[in-house]
Amino acid sequence: MSKPHWLIPSQPVETYQEYLEQYQGVSPILKAQAMGADAVITELKKSGLRGRGGAGFPAAAKWDTVRKDRCPTHAVVCNAAEGEPGTFKDRYMIRKNPYPLLEGVRIAARVIGTQTIRIGIKESFKREVERLRQALSELKALGLFEGVDIQIILGPESYLFGEEKGLLQVVDGIGPFPREAHYPPYEWGLQPTITSPNPALVSNAETFSHVPSIIHYGGDSFHQIGTPDTPGTIILTLCGDIQKPGIYEVPTGTTLNWAVMNLAGGPLPGRKLKAILSGVSVPVILPAQFETPLDFGSMRKIGSGLGSAGFIIMDDQTNIPRVAQAAARFLFVESCGQCPSCKMELNLASTTLDQLIDQAVQGSLTVELKNQLLERVKYGVMSAPQGNRCYLPTGAKVVVSSLMQAFHDEFDQLVQNFSNPRYLIPKIIDYDESKHVFVYDEKQWLKTPDWSYEYSHA
Ligand SMILES: Cc1cc2nc3c(=O)[nH]c(=O)nc-3n(C[C@H](O)[C@H](O)[C@H](O)COP(=O)(O)O)c2cc1C
Repeated sequence: MSKPHWLIPSQPVETYQEYLEQYQGVSPILKAQAMGADAVITELKKSGLRGRGGAGFPAAAKWDTVRKDRCPTHAVVCNAAEGEPGTFKDRYMIRKNPYPLLEGVRIAARVIGTQTIRIGIKESFKREVERLRQALSELKALGLFEGVDIQIILGPESYLFGEEKGLLQVVDGIGPFPREAHYPPYEWGLQPTITSPNPALVSNAETFSHVPSIIHYGGDSFHQIGTPDTPGTIILTLCGDIQKPGIYEVPTGTTLNWAVMNLAGGPLPGRKLKAILSGVSVPVILPAQFETPLDFGSMRKIGSGLGSAGFIIMDDQTNIPRVAQAAARFLFVESCGQCPSCKMELNLASTTLDQLIDQAVQGSLTVELKNQLLERVKYGVMSAPQGNRCYLPTGAKVVVSSLMQAFHDEFDQLVQNFSNPRYLIPKIIDYDESKHVFVYDEKQWLKTPDWSYEYSHA
């Protein structure tokens, strides 16, 4: 079994009994029940657990807010939609050990006083869905979910399925269309109405999975791991131009450089690393910043972010304008088109980057045209986040503008013999652990903004 508070065991945990060995056979669900809701919240507060879905929101505060909401009907919703490029940690964790997640949502339901639990996961994650179902049937057979309405909701292949307000819309049967920004899930939950807003506790799968060990060993014990800013471990996905792409759990505070060099084997022979992206929602991380400790505060201090700790590693062979084009295109085609932010501004940025690169490939890009198009891209991304329902266009702004700023020389060089191939955004669809190989969604390039696929572009 793994060390206290670590989520990834060395070997997959096959049964609930095997899982419970670390807790001397006593389920943290029963321990939490005996402790009562106040004591659970106290331990969560002491633990300092922050959400692992991207924003690092303190878990105890979220639980407490929903629990104390005046509306008597609440819900627990687990976000297992995992759609951030470069990220595969939730699926890996479910494959290796789905029990902490199930215990986490069960404990949360009791604390916030609800019988309603939903786990949102993509229909395409067949292996993980199957594993979750098997594990759930074991816990149900032991009566641990008695009286609880728990459902695994199979959702679409959309980036926005993972956005929390989009997730609630999928659970409600509508689709991955984020609600307006002033309807946060902790106020406006499942099938909300004015008289019954049904606030929901929405958290990431890794976040919920940390709860059972906090109940068993106590919040102070959890807080001793990692940094005071972001206590505990963090599951990294390291993909891209490295020798051993993979998923690695480390205490927070480990530096990105250490993880890349020591766990992922460093760059490919003869190459040098030049940039790292944490998904496509925070600014690029440059070599001078690789020694930053991995926690939410430190990553923010260097002007980037931890995100969902899915790191896309790029070496000196990577063409940054191609990366910017691919990131902008990914975000544009994945956007839902409800707000002018994406429909107009992100559209402008993405299609202008396409135009810029097409012209460069054709050899017809003059300095004047390049400058004009770059101004237009800048205008598009910088004005995208206005009146937006969700953070997606903000992600486009910070990723694209940071790449343009840090690598402006590469954008200038577009006027000279440009022949770099398209960059494939690492939307991970599978992982072969024995070979340290991630499988990327090659179809992503064919996806169009209306969410259909244009095979004639292949
Ligand atoms: C476009 C977009 C996509 C997102 N995708 C995911 C996702 O796949 N999984 C996830 O847990 N959070 C995702 N998030 C973050 C969620 O909206 C939300 O912050 C998170 O589920 C909260 O959980 P936490 O408090 O445990 O971090 C996404 C956010 C945005 C803006």
